[in-house]
Amino acid sequence: MVASQIKDHAKYGGVVPEIAARKHVDVLFGLLEAAGIDRSGNGIDAIAVTRGPGLAPALRVGVAAAKTLSLLWSKPLVGANHLEGHIYSTVLNQKTRKPENQITLQFPAICLLVSGGHTEIVLMKDHGVYEHIGETRDDAAGEAFDKVAKLLNLGYPGGPIVSKKATEGDSTVIEFPRPMMDSGDYDFSFSGLKTAVLYHQQDNPKDRTEDVCASFQEAVVDVLVSKTMKAVVEYQPKAIILGGGVSANERLRSQLSEAAEGAGVEFYAAPIEYTGDNAAMIAAAGYFRARAKQFNDPQTMIAEPNLKL
Ligand code: KG4
Ligand code: ZN
Repeated sequence: MVASQIKDHAKYGGVVPEIAARKHVDVLFGLLEAAGIDRSGNGIDAIAVTRGPGLAPALRVGVAAAKTLSLLWSKPLVGANHLEGHIYSTVLNQKTRKPENQITLQFPAICLLVSGGHTEIVLMKDHGVYEHIGETRDDAAGEAFDKVAKLLNLGYPGGPIVSKKATEGDSTVIEFPRPMMDSGDYDFSFSGLKTAVLYHQQDNPKDRTEDVCASFQEAVVDVLVSKTMKAVVEYQPKAIILGGGVSANERLRSQLSEAAEGAGVEFYAAPIEYTGDNAAMIAAAGYFRARAKQFNDPQTMIAEPNLKL
């Protein structure tokens, strides 16, 4: 997301589909030029684009552009899944110019995918082979950060602001609930936690914002780490993959990587600059699909707002 776009969305406290779609149109072709892509597509092996899940108007812009370029340049097309992009953002850790057989992810892996729209635990058995283990029943983890920031009047997007405030706060001051922590399954629920923060704020308006942020963050991280590690015990994976915008959260990264080390499994997370939505992660996901010759037909591929992994 470009800076001007974040400013536009910030006015409304969230991403507005029509604004996002218009901005996509505004920047798309300038972007190709800025990336140094030859007008005739020389040097490109394949074109990867986000097919879903996501906001339909924005997805359609990218998909239409990618299909057009694929036909114009006669290059194969990969319709990538946004969440698969977050999973493969973790290989951007490794030098992508290395020979492909050195780009390693170990399987089976338990993936914790945490963004503004999704909170899911997925068992990844191999490249492109997924089994859903659990998901949020209401708000996504990132959405909870955004809503808490809004009710504390801290701005948008909330994750970076709340986590920064949290570094100056004491997470033991307020004992917020850990929703569904012991529910016996791998589902999540963050809507009640957000309401708990709202009520706490109304009853204790003088509490330090830093302590509220730290205590809220600790509750979210506790639940995410505890459910992920429960899945590790049950499914015995070789690795944990942490992906999505919320994976920028330092507390989540450190707690989960420590837990992974304790359990003797590998831990993969994207470098901070690739945790939020970005084109490189879609290229990485597209690379693995292309390697397996899983291409899409540019004549018929459509955007799929509810695409599953
Ligand atoms: O993956 P992403 O960039 O976009 C979606 O696919 O939704 O994730 C964005 C989400 C937002 O809700 C944002 O507040 C959250 O990631 N986020 C964070 C942090 N940085 C971004 N949440 C918690 N801590 C952070 N440091
Ligand atoms: Zn995302």
